[in-house]
Amino acid sequence: MAFPTQRLRRLRASAGLRAMVRETELTPRDLVLPLFVRPGKGEKRPIRSMPGVYQWSVDTVVGPAREAARLGVPAVILFGIPDKKDARASGAYAKDGIVQRAARAVKEAVPGLVVIADLCFCEYTDHGHCGVIRKSRDSFILDNDATLELVAKTARSQAEAGFDVVAPSGMADGQVGVIRKALDASGHRDTPILAYAVKYSSAFYGPFRDAAESPPAFGDRSTYQMDPANRDEALREAALDVEEGADMLMVKPAMAYLDVLLEVRRRFGLPTAAYSVSGEYAMVKAAAEKGWMDEKRTALEVLTGIKRAGADFILTYHALDAARWLGA
Ligand code: PBG
Repeated sequence: MAFPTQRLRRLRASAGLRAMVRETELTPRDLVLPLFVRPGKGEKRPIRSMPGVYQWSVDTVVGPAREAARLGVPAVILFGIPDKKDARASGAYAKDGIVQRAARAVKEAVPGLVVIADLCFCEYTDHGHCGVIRKSRDSFILDNDATLELVAKTARSQAEAGFDVVAPSGMADGQVGVIRKALDASGHRDTPILAYAVKYSSAFYGPFRDAAESPPAFGDRSTYQMDPANRDEALREAALDVEEGADMLMVKPAMAYLDVLLEVRRRFGLPTAAYSVSGEYAMVKAAAEKGWMDEKRTALEVLTGIKRAGADFILTYHALDAARWLGA
């Protein structure tokens, strides 16, 4: 009697065959490194909930930026922790604001690296929400139109500081259109917009709020970020951003939203990013520290899965390690 057929296993029999038929290949070029910048000099402050991730100062942040370029990681995205926060988020659009200074330093030190600006206000407001807040006795609302004015100012300021890409993440309606207009009107027609089109109200942002020192002082972000249960709505969000002029789209978080990523990528055909957020990183780190999972294999599997689901590039705190692992 013949052996039972092994049709699918035949192509798994050797490393060579597996390499020949592999459908997805993760490379350092697929990765974007998020960096946190704080005031001061000579800083490299560990973040408790994100082992291996640091808050840098303007002078030291060029270190990891150089390392990214050396490893073939094409881009970084900068988040700022300003020295003072206020209700109007003025640190976000100050000429010598923290990320404006960091962008100039990084562009000067590593000219070929793509430097992306996260455009949001939660790190810059004293209340920790992503825009201008109107409060009544027992509730509050994010004032969309007032927020859009700050969005326009901030986009202009970021482009002037030399950022290559502006990435709005605040989930104010109309933000992409307002940014396109502001950039075009200020001589930055060539600055592309990476829209965090689909951003869920997620527990996976927990560690980021430590890193960026930006937890909301009251309430949560569920009146402007999306309900994790919704996919059709994600397509409406993306469609609006495309209509308003987004050059690239992003889905965030990544791991729990791969169905959304796949559909957004297929439906709109734009370069599409996935943000593998702080909580996704922290889970892998924590399990690895306990010896429960292998960090390298787990992280590379997660990133490969995100790419397989349609990501053209992935924002990940594992970017440098992954690039090293992939290069070795
Ligand atoms: C908002 C912003 C957040 C993240 C990126 N931009 C946090 C939030 O909405 O609370 C989260 C990123 C991460 O968790 O890694 N500016």
